[in-house]
Amino acid sequence: MQLKQALTEAVARLTANNVPSPRMNAELLLMFTLGCDRAYLYAHTERDLTADETSRYQSTLSERARGVPAQYITGHQEFWGMDLIVTPAVLIPRPETEHVIETVLELADEERRVGQGCPSNIIRIIDVGTGSGCIALALARELPQAEIHAIDASTAALEIARVNAARHQLEGHIHFHEADLLTGFEENSFDFIVSNPPYVGESEVDEVQLEVRKFEPHSAVFAGPTGVEVIARLIPQARASLRPGGWLVMEISGTIAEDVKRLLRNWKDVVVRADLQSIPRVVQARNPVA
Ligand SMILES: C[S@@+](CC[C@H](N)C(=O)[O-])C[C@H]1O[C@@H](n2cnc3c(N)ncnc32)[C@H](O)[C@@H]1O
Repeated sequence: MQLKQALTEAVARLTANNVPSPRMNAELLLMFTLGCDRAYLYAHTERDLTADETSRYQSTLSERARGVPAQYITGHQEFWGMDLIVTPAVLIPRPETEHVIETVLELADEERRVGQGCPSNIIRIIDVGTGSGCIALALARELPQAEIHAIDASTAALEIARVNAARHQLEGHIHFHEADLLTGFEENSFDFIVSNPPYVGESEVDEVQLEVRKFEPHSAVFAGPTGVEVIARLIPQARASLRPGGWLVMEISGTIAEDVKRLLRNWKDVVVRADLQSIPRVVQARNPVA
């Protein structure tokens, strides 16, 4: 079968199975099967697929048609310009999480300019719930002088985060820990506590995309009945672990923004930033013990 016919049939199959953006998915999976880029697909529309290529392409389409996210089929997702390995053990990094990185970089820059950084000038940062390692890796890349720690409660997620760190030559720069949030971490020691914690409530389960519910790790997405349960445990721990004047930066959603602001009522300089869709997405707050 020729490449263009394979693509046309794939688009029809994905459309029939209600897969969003069927052409984009059909092309992505064909690029993955052939190990080529989009330019190659467009330049070789009459190339015949081998029997092996056809069978591998059909099996990726079957997976996608039953709802498996394309990133779990290809094993890759881009974040902050880095190609990351993803498996069903980790949440697929989302573009909106890049706002967390932007916020930390802005605040770190401001601290440097006004001279409020830590006395040793080595910023200590911890990423709580690192998953694929996307936040820790992006910060390690942008802040080569910082001391970066990353924790997760999931052994399987930490394995993927370590693989990603090694792929980007950052393994010597990030200290990985298996832990329940900040339990057991030193008090008064971090300049930044950064997290994209689970923040969806079990009560919102029907509003969550079926693909997310079925295929992404439950413990990465859902926090408990209301969605603030993990954040409510993290905030007092963060207050103890931050140095005076240190920053907590967390990804949140519009649903929990008001609850999170209430939980941070005794902190300083609390600001909620919106994402490109004007949805409250990142909260920043300063440890008031200054
Ligand atoms: C929303 S995912 C974020 C993953 C990654 N940081 C990202 O932005 O794509 C939340 C992560 O927190 C981890 N997690 C959930 N509960 C935790 C806990 N009590 N202690 C440590 N990590 C936890 C999950 O395993 C998951 O990897």
